Amino acid sequence: MQRRHFLKLTAALSAAGALPLWSRSLMAATRPLLPIPALLEADAHGTYNLIAQAGTSQWNGKAVPTWGYNSSLLGPAIALQRGKPVNVNIHNRLPEATTVHWHGLEVPGAVDGGPQAVIAPGATRQVSFTPDQPAATCWFHPHQHGKTGHQVAQGLAGLVLLQDDASGKLRLPIQWGVDDVPLIFQDKQLTKDGSRIEYQLDIMRAAVGWFGDMMLTNGAQYPQHAVPRGWLRLRLLNGCNARSLHIATSDKRPLYVIGSDGGLLAEPVKVESLPLLPGERFEVMVDTSDGNAFDMVTLPVTQMGMMLAPFDQPLPLVNILPLRVMASGALPDKLVDLPPVPATEGLQTRWLQLMMDPQLDSQGMQALMDRYGAKAMGNHHGMAMPADKKPMDMKMDMGGMQMDHGNMAMDHSGHAKAAPGYDFHNGNKINGVAFDMAKPMFGAKLGSMEKWTISGEGDSMLHPFHIHGTQFRILSENGKPPAPHRQGWKDMVSVDGWRSEVLVRFNYVASAEHAYMAHCHLLEHEDTGMMLGFTVT
Ligand code: C2O
Ligand code: CU
Ligand code: CU
Repeated sequence: MQRRHFLKLTAALSAAGALPLWSRSLMAATRPLLPIPALLEADAHGTYNLIAQAGTSQWNGKAVPTWGYNSSLLGPAIALQRGKPVNVNIHNRLPEATTVHWHGLEVPGAVDGGPQAVIAPGATRQVSFTPDQPAATCWFHPHQHGKTGHQVAQGLAGLVLLQDDASGKLRLPIQWGVDDVPLIFQDKQLTKDGSRIEYQLDIMRAAVGWFGDMMLTNGAQYPQHAVPRGWLRLRLLNGCNARSLHIATSDKRPLYVIGSDGGLLAEPVKVESLPLLPGERFEVMVDTSDGNAFDMVTLPVTQMGMMLAPFDQPLPLVNILPLRVMASGALPDKLVDLPPVPATEGLQTRWLQLMMDPQLDSQGMQALMDRYGAKAMGNHHGMAMPADKKPMDMKMDMGGMQMDHGNMAMDHSGHAKAAPGYDFHNGNKINGVAFDMAKPMFGAKLGSMEKWTISGEGDSMLHPFHIHGTQFRILSENGKPPAPHRQGWKDMVSVDGWRSEVLVRFNYVASAEHAYMAHCHLLEHEDTGMMLGFTVT
């Protein structure tokens, strides 16, 4: 696929005299080419077919078992048009049950693909809906409860490109894989011999999430992509299980953010760098008219566990090589009309307190230290690591949090030990309860605004919080007004040691059997209970 696309582009370019013959072999010799997800077309009956299947991917010269949709890894990009009905047949050819959730799409609970919508191995599920929301870059991924982290780590994830008339009228780049380029960033951990993906949901991962030392862009390690000169549109997705990223360019050229999770912004926002939470998307424009090659990189972040090499310095994600042909898209001054954020007085309010069981929190971090040493703790919230402190003391100092040691014992090495039989699979909670599929936590009213406050006060973890069935607006994020590029439509908000407020509205019904989910998108937090179901009626 990637190859066909590239050959098409290079054929066109060399016909135009833009690409010297040598550059093709040079490119192929030095780096893998950026794989471009295929655009999935509907069949003769207007139906899309998605097949979750097993395959292998080549990394470091080894064939590694992976999963994908209609392929061995990741999946196609499904292009949808606002207002046009969609039919999808989802076939599960995996050895285990799965679900497919449409992250970012406002669709009824019955077709949302949450953890209730289980597709047994060998079975097919059919869903139909009509998207009616602004153009956006969304994605689809499994939501099998307790297994989401594992299944995403295996490779299951794909893009949804929702289009509408308003965005079609702008002169934004639209040539898929040429000047409109998706970049799906994911880290992975392979076993020592490189032959398998090493995924385990243990107490360490339940606390800090699953992360790895191999960084992939569209499934390839530091690939290269040739582009025309001019305005390049990049659709960024952080598809990592747990790792937050901080995107920048290697030569400090600015990024112009044109869209967030749920659609285009009112106008481009120029930034030097762009933090990107797991599950989050941004569309950015980059000016490549100088013709100089550069890298997209991720800068170090202070999130717990994420400071380990190679993430302790700017890490290249993809090399962008502008060719001599000119691009045709433009960067408009104005994008779309964003409705102003309405007043919030008198609205229904809800408080969602994200909670990590103190045993899980401390034992998980202890496991992190045991495995990776003190540098795994990084410099979270600006706190330097005193070398002479024992892990437990240090943990207790972090962020002034309080810990309850009631149930904890020390083993001979002084490490915290959870009480026997401690169930970390339900150690993460919201408002004191771990996710219960049978019991929605509350009911929201169809079509009315609500103000939700999501609090992570009391722990030192980053919680990228996500809500199904809505595109919301951020009122405040960790106690501050949202950054300009985070003021548009969003389905993800950062909850980082403090609290964030969002204004939500649900336009579709979700019954108790098909409740919507609200959860931490650090997938191991989600899988171990930091999720709730809610109805909309
Ligand atoms: Cu991206 Cu509930 O998920
Ligand atoms: Cu979602
Ligand atoms: Cu979390």
